[in-house]
Formats: sequence, structure tokens, C-alpha cells
Amino acid sequence: MITYHNDVHHIKTEKYSYLFRVNRLGLPEHLHFGAPVAAEDGSAFACKPTPGWGSSILYEQNVYGHADNLCLDVLSLEWSGSGRGDYRESPIELFMDGEAIPCDFAYRSHRLLEGGAPMASTLPQAMDAEQTLELTLKHPWGLALKLYYTGFETALVRRAVLVNNTDKTVTVKKLMSLCLDLPGQYELISFHGAWNAEMRRHSQPVTGGRVVTDSTTGFSSNLHQPGFLLAEPGAGEDHGRVFGFNLIWSGNHYSSAQRSFQGLTRVMQGISPVNFARELKPGDVFESPEAVLAWSDGGFNGLSACFHEFVNRHIVPKAWQYRQRPVLYNSWEGCGMDFTHSRLLDLAKRAKRLGCELFVLDDGWFGARNDDHAGLGDYTVNRKKLPHGMDGLAKAVNELGMEFGLWFEPECINENSELHRAHPDWVLEDGLRRVYGRNQLHLDLTKQEVRDYIVENVSRVLDSANITYVKWDMNRHSVALGSRAYDYILGLYEILGRIFGPRPQILLESCSSGGNRFDLGMLCFSPQVWCSDDTDPIERLDIQRGLSYLYPQSTFGAHVSAAPHSMTLRNTPLSTRGNVSFFGCLGYELDLKHLLPVEEQEIAAQITFYKACRRTFQFGSFRRLWAPEGEAWQVSGDGKTCAGLFHRLIHAAPGYEQLRLVDLDPEKRYSLRSREQLLRVGQYGSLVHHIAPVNLDPNGLVLRAVDRHYPMKDGVEQMSASGAALMSGVMLHLRFTGAGYDPNCRNQGDFCSNVYLITEE
Ligand code: GLA
Repeated sequence: MITYHNDVHHIKTEKYSYLFRVNRLGLPEHLHFGAPVAAEDGSAFACKPTPGWGSSILYEQNVYGHADNLCLDVLSLEWSGSGRGDYRESPIELFMDGEAIPCDFAYRSHRLLEGGAPMASTLPQAMDAEQTLELTLKHPWGLALKLYYTGFETALVRRAVLVNNTDKTVTVKKLMSLCLDLPGQYELISFHGAWNAEMRRHSQPVTGGRVVTDSTTGFSSNLHQPGFLLAEPGAGEDHGRVFGFNLIWSGNHYSSAQRSFQGLTRVMQGISPVNFARELKPGDVFESPEAVLAWSDGGFNGLSACFHEFVNRHIVPKAWQYRQRPVLYNSWEGCGMDFTHSRLLDLAKRAKRLGCELFVLDDGWFGARNDDHAGLGDYTVNRKKLPHGMDGLAKAVNELGMEFGLWFEPECINENSELHRAHPDWVLEDGLRRVYGRNQLHLDLTKQEVRDYIVENVSRVLDSANITYVKWDMNRHSVALGSRAYDYILGLYEILGRIFGPRPQILLESCSSGGNRFDLGMLCFSPQVWCSDDTDPIERLDIQRGLSYLYPQSTFGAHVSAAPHSMTLRNTPLSTRGNVSFFGCLGYELDLKHLLPVEEQEIAAQITFYKACRRTFQFGSFRRLWAPEGEAWQVSGDGKTCAGLFHRLIHAAPGYEQLRLVDLDPEKRYSLRSREQLLRVGQYGSLVHHIAPVNLDPNGLVLRAVDRHYPMKDGVEQMSASGAALMSGVMLHLRFTGAGYDPNCRNQGDFCSNVYLITEE
């Protein structure tokens, strides 16, 4: 609900209030973002009038009395300009005739709109908005600035639009989506990384110097995630005040936070101004993407819950909202580009036997694509590999009772391709010599004929066979700077809308060398994103944990692959590979032909377990749990709770370990049971004499055969306890103590884990 009373605008839901007022000189002053309050409380939050601050600039002569001089530098504002006395960072920078324009935008009007903010470009936006407040501010030279506020249950969306109503060309150097001054002291929690190491959490205090997180790769990037948090010092997973910010945008982004000496933290977020310049002719409009804000006094978990709900309800395409995602098998790590129809079908049969529901053919099916030097751009089926065509393969997979999905990388091109030979001018160039990423270049999506080519070619393939899933990849950073990179992203959104808008049945998974483009813009088209090429479960603990602060687990593509892992050489138990992947959209990506019988049994059991709890894993409320020795996650929903407890390196002489759950009914009784999982006999080497009645050679044939065929059972934890007890922390079986095999222990070593199912009795 959005109300207006005594100059105070109030966006209110059950979860939060957002209050600002237009002061007597027409400047929008921020009052409050936090716990729900009444509009009448507005003035209680206002910065107190000041007589000015020595060298500071006052907005007007002292006409109203000594204590009300409107010194912009110390006011809490919703927006700011330049040259008017606010020397904090400005959200707007404009130029006219080569000179910076002093910016002074003041209130002109406001109105309430049904639905979301009007959008003239192809920028995606949050859906199912009920009401939007449009606040129009005017610059004395004729520019208009529209600030939009849309309230959703658990998050608020803001954006700014600039209209050039002057009779001259205006250059936009910077136009943030959001600017806001929050009272208080904060830690900035941001997420940085690299290929294979996405979403590492960083924390730093916000001080007088500006703290910036931004991307200049042309995309949201694996280097710096656009979403970030501001937390009050001392906030924890379940307590303390936390603000969250994110951007519905997939290109270069910019966010900053800076604390003023008076204790206001200015935060802003939008398209990166680095190398950016956009000319607006008289009458032209420039739209910024939507920024998302959330607040919680329930700590990081509370904030994540707000974002998760918002993404699941208002970002992910309608046809896939809360729709269960199939367990998939992907061909990439198993066979790369080296396959034939019959090899794929053999993999599909094996995947089906294990319980997979969707078979995805990854890279290598088109043109001369036998390695990553050739073929990108040519989406004609390679008949040598697939003599029955895509339709033939899809039909054969469908006949097994599985769905069929396909990989594309439509934004890129190899020089060694038919497309490049025909249209070398379609490459995105910058006038200097070409620079390559994974031996490929970008197509220039700012050109209409290139966008049409992609739409027509991808659509043709999609309509040629029964394809119900697409992996849309993009494997390099861009050479486009600023405004061209912006147009590229608008072009990409146009393409995605044209291809997938009319084909809502297709589950789109976006990918960019793993998680190089995990953002809300892509999620508006693709309900899930491939988090990382690094599927090592121990690395994934960091990656999925980082993502979980901002995104719901329904958006994580999470696969089990082979060990030792291709990215880390780490050898991890198959059980842990499954247990970590459960907390996302489960898939398998390894050569199934080489599985041992015990591994097949374990995978089949994993898939059965996952399917029984799939709604809970994919859409349940996710919590990061207290786990001093490892990592623990909980999901609850659909009448169940599942918890995962994960360890990295373990130590000898294990101490007692508790599992502390949350969000249960303290009065109710629950049964807790750990998932039975594979323990490999071979894992024990010469220690088998602890469990075998006879002395076996650890490298001998007998033990090798036993290891292949007969799994050992790990100690299954089972208990009945009240919700109150489970939330206080219940004692788990000991981990392996070094004093022999005990069927009641968790007999695992490094990288061990368990998943627990908790149901009401
Ligand atoms: C990227 C993706 C992988 C795989 C390959 C195929 O690296 O992240 O998952 O699809 O491309 O070339």
C-alpha cells in the first residue's frame, strides 16, 4: 500500500515501511526504511534542522530562522544533485556543451500508477506489481527526473528515469537507479570471485572513504556480484538489522556506500558510470534498471528470506514459479564434444535407470564444433555425430521417458565458422586489434540483423525437435565499453524475450563460464543459472552459500560430478557430492559408464531421496545454520525440513557435535533421521581388518571386488525430539574416533557430510 499524507509518502507492507517526505523546498528527504510504522511517525525519523556547519553551503538564505537552513550535505536524501552543497557522491552526472551541468532537481508532482513503473526499453522488471509511486522532479533548465517506487511484500523496487526536455543535447554520464541515505554504521558484505571461485563473501566496514563494488567486464561478472548487503555491526545469521540491495540488470554495475561524518550512510546502485556516456537529444529518455531493496531485523537469514521470496514470486518467469525442476543429466563433463548418437543414447539410458528426468546435450552438436576453436555461430546439426538429427535424438530420449534439452552459445562466434566467413562485420569490435576469450568473439548484439539472425536460428532449432530445456551459455568478458555494453545488454534482453516469450514451456538455464552472469536480469528470463563450472562440493559450499544470501536455491543449477574433481583434484565422497547438490536444482554431470555398482546404487538412492523432498529443497525456506565446525543448511516447507551438515578437513579425537535447527514448532514432536548413504569399503584401505573377520590384502582382488559391489552402511542417526529440543541443539553420533568401526558412528573422514530429514510425528 502506498499512501501520501502531510507531504509524507509511505510505502508499507507487513514486512517494512519506507517513508520519505518532500520538504518545503521540494527536496525528497529520506525518513525511514525498516520496521512497519505509521506515516505520522515520519517526522520522528527526520534529521533535525541545523544552523549550518562552518564551511558548509546552505541551500538558501536564512529566511526561516536560524535552525532550518537546509544544508544538503548533512540531510538524509532520497536523491541528490551536484553543486548545491551536497558533497557526498552524486547519483547523477550530466553534461551539456562539454560542461558538467549543476544538478538541482526539485519536486514538481507525484501520482500513483496501477502496476509497475512504465518501461519503454527492453529492460526486464519485477512482475505482478500492484502500485507504483511516480515522483517527478524538475531541473530549472527543463530536465525532468522521475523516481519510481514499487512496493512488493518483502522488497521494494526503485528506479530513476531522465527526460531531456531542454532544447539541447544532454550527455548522461551517470544515472543511478537508487540513492539513499541511511542513518547508522554498517559493514558492507559483498561477493567477489573469479571463474571457478564465484561468490566469495567479503566484509568490510563502511567508512568515510567510499567503498565501491562494480563490474566493467560488460556483464554482471564472476568478479563482482551486483547484489550486496549492509549490516549493522554485530548482526548475525539470525539477529540484527541488515539491508540488502540488488539490480535487475546483467551488464556493468556500480554500487557504493560511504559514511558521512554526521553518521549517514549514502548508498547507491545502478549502471556503472565507468566509460559511460549517453547522448540524449531533446525529448529523449534514459531509463535506469530497477534496483531492489530489502530490510530485515532478523539477521542475514531474515534478509535472505526477503530476497528469496521476492525472486521466486516476482522475478522468475511465471511459467516456472514454484514449478518443480527436473533432475537432469548433462553430457559436458562426461563426454565433452566427443560423442555420437549411440554414445549419447547409452548415457541417456543409464541416466534414466538412475532416475534422471531430463537429458541435456551440451556443447559440440553443431557445425564444426569439435573443440573450442571452431563452429560457434553455426547452429546446424553435425550429421556425422548425430545422423538422425536433433529430432531423431530427442525422440529417442523421449522414448526412454526423459525430456530433452540442448546447449547454445548464441552471443559468441568463432572466426572459424560459416557465420564469420559470411558476416565478419557482425563481430563486436572496438577498432583495435581483436582480443579473444576462449578463442571466441562476441557478436554485435546492438545490430538488429544480428539479433534477428540469433532469434531465427535458435528458434529454428528449438522448433525442430521436442526440446524442453535450454542452457544458454556465454563464455567470455566483453570488449564493449560503457554505453555500447549497455546497448548490448538491451539487445540480449530483446533476443531472450523474442525466443523464450513465445515458448514458456522451455526451462532456460543461463550460464556464463559457470557463474559469470548470475543476476536478477538473467533470472527474469531463466529460472535457474549454472552457479559455477566448479562442481567440487567443498568449493560449492562457498559458492552456494554466497549465492544463498541473495538468491533462492531454486535458481542454482547444482550437479554431482566425478572425483577427483577436474578443477581441484580433490577426492570427495559421492555422498557429499549429492548432499551439497540437493540444496539446489539437482543434476549429474559425469561419465555414467564408469560408475561402479555401489556408486550407481548411491546415485539412484540420492535421486529417490531428492525427488521425495524436491519441493522442500527447491522452494522451502533456506537457512544457514549455526555450525562451528563446518557448514550447515536447512530448508523447510511442504511439510518437511531437511538439514545438511558438511565438513571440510576433519580432526582426530572428534568432539561432540550438535545440530541446531530453526523454524520448528517448539511444542510439536519431530522425528529426525539421517539419509542412509554410501560408505566405500575401499576407503578404509588396510584398516579393513577392523571390520573383516579375515585378514584381507587392501590392494587385492577380493577387496577390490567387495568395494565395487558392496557398500558399507554408515551409522544412521534417528531420534524423536520436540521442536524445542531440536532448536536448542541435539547431540549427534560421534564422528569416526580412530578406535575401530562402530556402526553407530559417522564413519567418514575429510569432506564428510550428512543430510537429515525432519518430519512431524
Ligand atoms: C562453459 C560452461 C560449461 C560447458 C562448456 C561447454 O564452460 O560453463 O558448463 O557448457 O561451456 O563448452
